[in-house]
Amino acid sequence: MAFAAPFSMVTRAGNFKKGSTVSDDNPSKRAIIIDTDPGQDDAIAILLALASPELEVLGITAVAGNVPLELTQTNARKICELAGRPDMRVFAGASRPLVRPLVTAEYVHGKTGLDGPVLPEPEMALEDGFAVDFIIDTIRARPNQSVTLCALGPLTNIALALVKAPDIAAKIREIVLMGGGFFEGGNVTPAAEFNIYVDPHAATTVFEAGIPIVMAPLDCTHKALTTRAREAALRAKKTPVCDAAADLIDFFERFDEDKYGTDGGPLHDPCVIAYLLQPTLFKGRHCNVSIETTSELTMGMTVIDWWGVTDLPKNALVLGDVDAGGFFDLITERLATL
Ligand code: BDR
Ligand code: CA
Repeated sequence: MAFAAPFSMVTRAGNFKKGSTVSDDNPSKRAIIIDTDPGQDDAIAILLALASPELEVLGITAVAGNVPLELTQTNARKICELAGRPDMRVFAGASRPLVRPLVTAEYVHGKTGLDGPVLPEPEMALEDGFAVDFIIDTIRARPNQSVTLCALGPLTNIALALVKAPDIAAKIREIVLMGGGFFEGGNVTPAAEFNIYVDPHAATTVFEAGIPIVMAPLDCTHKALTTRAREAALRAKKTPVCDAAADLIDFFERFDEDKYGTDGGPLHDPCVIAYLLQPTLFKGRHCNVSIETTSELTMGMTVIDWWGVTDLPKNALVLGDVDAGGFFDLITERLATL
C-alpha cells in the first residue's frame, strides 16, 4: 500500500518545541547525542553529523543491534577516526534488549557490521563510563531542553536512561529516531522494522515518556534510495571519506536491491541527521504511535493512527516523505568537507 497523501509540511509546531537548529549553550549549534548501532547507514549518519557545523555532537553512545555491542562501539570509533575526530567521546551501552534476546542483522551489514571499506582498527579509546549514565549526566548538566537525542538503533540505552532517571524526560529537547513502519510494513518481519523489533519494550518506554519525538519510519526511508547516480556523485568528490562512504553504500545496498528490485537501497539512519539540518526536506504528520509487545506475530509493529481514528495523544511527528535528491545532495556536499 502506498503511503497516502496529503502530508502536512514538517514543523515543530503543536506539541513540538518551536525553534531553529540552535543550541542553548552555543547559539550557533544544536547539541545532540547520537545513540547508534553501526551499521553502514549509521556510519553515514555519524559522518553527516560530524561534517555539519550546525550540530554539536556531545558524544556517541553505542548499543547492541545490527551486530553485538563489542562491534558497534568499535565501529563507532572507526567512523570518528575516518572523520578526523579521534577526540569524540564514544561510550558503550546496553549489550542486549530489555526483555527479549538480541537479534542481529549480519545478513544485511556483514560480519563486522561495517563491511565494505577496509577501515583500520581504532586507536582512540572507548570512554570508561556506561553510555546510559553519559546520557543522563549530560542532559542533567546542560540547560533544560537543549539536548536532542538522535536514535539510530534499538532504543535500549534511551529507555534505560528514562527508567533510571525519569527527571530527564522533561529536560530533553527532542528525540529524533529512525524506526518503525506502517503503510510500508516491516523489514525484519512482515509487521516490524528492525530497530523497534529488536527492543519493542524499550520503544514503548520511549514513546510513552511524553518527550517530543520525530520518527523516520520505513515509509520515509524507503524513498531515500542510494541510486547508481547518487553513489557516483559521492565518488566524484574523490576524497577518502566520500570513497569510504560509497564503499559502505555499495555493500549495504546489495541486500535491499535484491529484496526490493530497486536501483539502490534505502539509506535509513541519515534521515535523522538530515531532518535536523534541513527539516523542509521532509513531510509528515503528528500521530499517535503505539508499539506491539505481546503478539509474536506482530511483535514490534508501530501502530500509527495516521487517520486520527482514536483520541490517543499525538506522541510523534511521523515522517512519510523525503526529497531524496535534496537529501543526497546534502550528504554529498557535507561529506566532501571532511
Ligand atoms: C534500521 O535497522 C538497521 O539495520 C539500520 O541501521 C537502520 O537503523 C533500518 O530498519
Ligand atoms: Ca542503525
